[in-house]
Amino acid sequence: MIINTGLGLRSQYFQDLLEKKYNSIQWLEFLADQYFEVPEFLLKKLDQLREIYPCVLHSVNLSLASQARISSRYLKFLENLIHRYEPEWISDHLCFSKVGPIFTHDLLPIPWDYKILDRVARRIDLLQTRFKKNFLIENISSYFRFLDSPLSEAEFLKKLTQKTGCGLLLDINNIFVTADNHGESPEPFLQEIPFNSVKQIHLAGAEYHDGLWIDTHSRAVSERVLNCFAEIQAQHGPIPTCLEWDNDLPSFNKILEETQTIQKIIQNPQPKLSAEIEKSNLLFFPNKKIPEKNSKQNSKQNSKQNSESAWINYLTGDPLDLYKIISPTIFPNISPESRAHIYYKSMVGSREKILKKTFKPLSKILEPDLFDGCIFNYANENFVQDFNLNTYGEDFSDYLSQFECTKQFPYLKNLADFCYAWRQVYTQENTPGIYLSFDTPVYEIWKQCQPEYQGILETNYPSGLFEYLLYREGDKVKIKTKPLVFKK
Ligand SMILES: [Fe+2]
Repeated sequence: MIINTGLGLRSQYFQDLLEKKYNSIQWLEFLADQYFEVPEFLLKKLDQLREIYPCVLHSVNLSLASQARISSRYLKFLENLIHRYEPEWISDHLCFSKVGPIFTHDLLPIPWDYKILDRVARRIDLLQTRFKKNFLIENISSYFRFLDSPLSEAEFLKKLTQKTGCGLLLDINNIFVTADNHGESPEPFLQEIPFNSVKQIHLAGAEYHDGLWIDTHSRAVSERVLNCFAEIQAQHGPIPTCLEWDNDLPSFNKILEETQTIQKIIQNPQPKLSAEIEKSNLLFFPNKKIPEKNSKQNSKQNSKQNSESAWINYLTGDPLDLYKIISPTIFPNISPESRAHIYYKSMVGSREKILKKTFKPLSKILEPDLFDGCIFNYANENFVQDFNLNTYGEDFSDYLSQFECTKQFPYLKNLADFCYAWRQVYTQENTPGIYLSFDTPVYEIWKQCQPEYQGILETNYPSGLFEYLLYREGDKVKIKTKPLVFKK
């Protein structure tokens, strides 16, 4: 049963969670997308955790607001996980995470209009009917708003619950990030939201960069967010609550500390007076009322540009359509261009992150600036066209070859191919093995690029025919070198 405090599961904490059951972690939130197309050994770890903890499933790529159909392949993977783990409910966000053929791997804001409301409602109906599970929709954090939004975010969410009977996953940090980034108070949102539909709460920490709060999930939950949480629990609780921490992951002890704080608040919510909190938390902006916008005038100015195609244009280098349909913000004084650019940076950032993981051995050969530069340039120029981020970077080795500065390492392309193959075998269920052949002993080079290797990197290699078979055995990638013996 999903009650009290849960934790957004991250693989770094698998072992801690398996060794002992903690009072302050009573259930887990599985990030569904991380377990699509993965090998059985990973799912078996989840099986073990599921035997100890009840769970809910949280996804990020349903992209409920997009025009295009949700991929049937995506739904099939989701369905498989639902059957295997029997979550109490499933959830995703009120956003675009796919625009046209591009998977953004970031949660993009939508206009809160009736057309999108109908679209999202239709999809939630379909999901609830197909999976026979209650669906919860989550409010995202945002750095700008669309002009053509006749509804407020809270009105949109309320109507969605009325139309579909779905629940709400209330992310309190997102409420504050959005409000602060528009110079508003979170109060109107909190007054409008139907708390009888709130079935789960998310808590996370944000970071302040260049005038705006960014929803990084890389910090402890702020005191002001915790206080609002205590007010909500006091008035409407107990509501099951899950801690999300995705970047700069702390020790498991720190995670425990945070969940214990959350647990104490759920069991005995004692909100402080607002004045005390304002004094103790000067990191957030003071609440400033944004002047009422003239919605009629704004609607006229609006070119009726479709928000999704404006996003596509923006991503493919034609930003003006997007800037035309973003609401001009008065406080804090950050331009629509800068606000949109936060999403751009975040999208490229998620591609950089996976490339750095896949091609990490190359960082032992290339100077840090060169390695980072190649990764950034590739990520900047190449979109992801699949919800599975693990397959990204297939032609990175060819891309590297075009840089003059990489030519002093003639084996670099081969090493990049080896790294990519290693990652596919490790992470992809449908790739249990890959055969590779090179004219340099790439496996020897790769071994010298591992973190545990302490010797000096050898740069003179014999040439010849070097064949390798990379295959998965349990949770390990094994490498067979020539002579290769294949089982019949
Ligand atoms: Fe969240």
